Amino acid sequence: MSGRPRLTVFGTGYLGTAHAACLASLGFEVLGVDVDAARASALQAGTLPFYEPGLEPLLRAGLHGGRLSFTTSYPDAAEFGNVHFICVGTPQRPGSGGADLSQFEACFAGLAPLLRRPCLVVGKSTVPPGTVAAYGQRLPAIAPAGPGAELAWNPEFLREGHAVGDTLRPDRIVAGVRSARAEATLRAVYAEPLAAGIPFLVTDPATAEMVKVAANAFLATKISFINAMAELCEMTGADVLSLAGALGHDRRIGASGMRPGLGFGGGCLPKDIRALAARAAELGAGEALEFLHDIDAINQRRRTRVVDLAREAAGGRLESRRVGVLGVAFKPGSDDIRDSPALEVAARIQALGARVAVFDPAAMDRAKHVHPDLEYAGSVLGAARDADVLLVLTEWPEFAAADPEVLAKTVARQVVVDARHALDADAWRACGWDYRAPGRPGSAPPARTAGIRLHQAALHEAAAGFLAAAV
Ligand code: UDX
Repeated sequence: MSGRPRLTVFGTGYLGTAHAACLASLGFEVLGVDVDAARASALQAGTLPFYEPGLEPLLRAGLHGGRLSFTTSYPDAAEFGNVHFICVGTPQRPGSGGADLSQFEACFAGLAPLLRRPCLVVGKSTVPPGTVAAYGQRLPAIAPAGPGAELAWNPEFLREGHAVGDTLRPDRIVAGVRSARAEATLRAVYAEPLAAGIPFLVTDPATAEMVKVAANAFLATKISFINAMAELCEMTGADVLSLAGALGHDRRIGASGMRPGLGFGGGCLPKDIRALAARAAELGAGEALEFLHDIDAINQRRRTRVVDLAREAAGGRLESRRVGVLGVAFKPGSDDIRDSPALEVAARIQALGARVAVFDPAAMDRAKHVHPDLEYAGSVLGAARDADVLLVLTEWPEFAAADPEVLAKTVARQVVVDARHALDADAWRACGWDYRAPGRPGSAPPARTAGIRLHQAALHEAAAGFLAAAV
């Protein structure tokens, strides 16, 4: 292929849209492809169908500059591109932990028979180990271009809320390739980030595919590790925030990605660790990844713990209590509510008989759609009005910036559960709030505290005995 490759991007979710718009901003001609006609035409009109800071201006610039467009036509895409990125979703299969590869399969099966000239198909979707090998064999057998059509793997590590930065300036670019031609093509696509010094790691496609799932498993493990420590902190009166800070100073551990709280959710980490564990079991390596079930279980327990904390904070029952909820998105900077710990906690509290009023800066419409039963307030103050307990479930900066003195005048009772450790505990306590947060002193469940008291009493008794013996 001579000159700059022309690119197609199949699947226009968070990953595909960010990839298409960012590559167009680097000067490539890019065609985005989606089977959802409404989505393709919204994007063609410059409207982003989801919230992602900084992405819409890039989308519009690409459209106006004539470098970016969207279609539903596979034949047009096959005709247009020399490099075809596959960015379709790989959700969890209903009723099992495994990955549902039907979108990937449909995309591949639709595109491959249309590839008549030499080209590179590049997988970016997150898939369980072993997927690439199977498709890599099928591609030259199905494509009219034969061995001229090659499959490479180039996993994507972008975080929602940081999609543009993570796409244009990733920590690393991983190129899983079988030939020098494929490597040269990916180097041409990423010439600009590479010139800026972003590490380019060349490996085989099977390893590239593993890098993504292993990275997500590690990130999930790190979060569940500190949340498991939070459980222990509640038993001993230790402070998980100070603990995480102290651990993070060890450069081998590092502080980032280790914020304790309500745990992980979203469209990636939960389903990716389940898919990895399921595939490992299929491959006969289930025992090696058995720990991922614990990582998942620790993570699920966070949601139960926060519901319990809310109940304790509400005086032992949630029935007929008014609960104000700040945040329903799975994390700040996103309107994504897929497997959102925040939305699940809000819904569970409502199911326990509370009247729940929620506010989120971005995810209200999506949450309303799934949970029309919750009350939706127009602001932080609206959600807090007459609340018996206020819960912070997503750490949006505007919640951290809320004035505890102003909120104190709005609520019925000044009790706050800060499930994401987003607030300045001292400032809130100074304004008279009963501040509680998982894994922090003052939030231990009564039964456990009683257990500690008994334990402490036993220690005192032993110490007294020791002193008596010494004298
Ligand atoms: C994740 C990976 O980070 C990314 O590399 C991959 O491509 C897709 O999955 P994302 O789901 O967008 O990205 O969000 P991330 O920022 O990793 O957060 C995931 C979840 O973990 C969120 O619910 C977040 O609130 C939670 N989290 C994150 C913590 O509880 N503690 C942390 O320290 C970090």
